[in-house]
Amino acid sequence: MNRDQIRHFQSWFDDYISNFYSKGQDQEKDWAIRLKEEHSQRVRQEIILIGQRLNLPEQDILIAEVLGLFHDIGRFYQYQRYGTFRDDLSENHAELGVKILVDTNILNDLLKEEKDIIKNGILYHNLRKLPEDEDPRFLFFFKLLRDADKLDIWRIIINYYYKEQEHNHKSVLELGLPDTPGYSDRSLDNLYSGQTSSSSAIKNLNDFKLLQISWVYDINFSPTFQEIKKRKYIDEIVSILPETQELKKALKIVENYLTVHTTIQN
Ligand SMILES: [Fe+2]
Repeated sequence: MNRDQIRHFQSWFDDYISNFYSKGQDQEKDWAIRLKEEHSQRVRQEIILIGQRLNLPEQDILIAEVLGLFHDIGRFYQYQRYGTFRDDLSENHAELGVKILVDTNILNDLLKEEKDIIKNGILYHNLRKLPEDEDPRFLFFFKLLRDADKLDIWRIIINYYYKEQEHNHKSVLELGLPDTPGYSDRSLDNLYSGQTSSSSAIKNLNDFKLLQISWVYDINFSPTFQEIKKRKYIDEIVSILPETQELKKALKIVENYLTVHTTIQN
């Protein structure tokens, strides 16, 4: 792959997305489409940042950039067709994305390995856990995407809670979850045991915030841990959670985990 091909993918992406904007007819939809358009661009940037810190060869950074740019390509059709980003209420946006890339033949000029990394990386990016029996080179790219994706989702969520809530995009970002007091035992247990929560443990908004904290257990590379710390992502989410003793204890464990992994070299 070369830079010209990336430019071609970028202009295809811009063109493809432009068809989804209602141009003012439906402001909620335009907001949702813009959210995912910007997210895709930012995940591409986050991938470059992590990739460069890991000293990846230019060729691998190019592949990873395409993976970042295209990982949520199924989101636009998903929102247009179903009016939601919830896969459980519509369809799997990762599978949808791969289908779009295949149907449009956009990846046709790439090498087989490049195509396979991009298609499988998309398919695996929203699984709770990555399969362990994959080829190590493939797994490396899948992990890179998952780290970069989370870095930007944290930014979106925090930004929303601190700056955008008044604009009323609740249904898109809060997934229709009730803002009730407390949280489920399972969400808390996951923080103690070093597990990423499953969506079945999520009963209210606090559970959703705890899930986002538990994502640190699914982070793979030290540059990502460093960015989480530097950007104070966990502190920001903690500050919008209820202050209970048991939660404070669990968060201490998360904090230690983060500190240890910030200093480990990949
Ligand atoms: Fe996604």
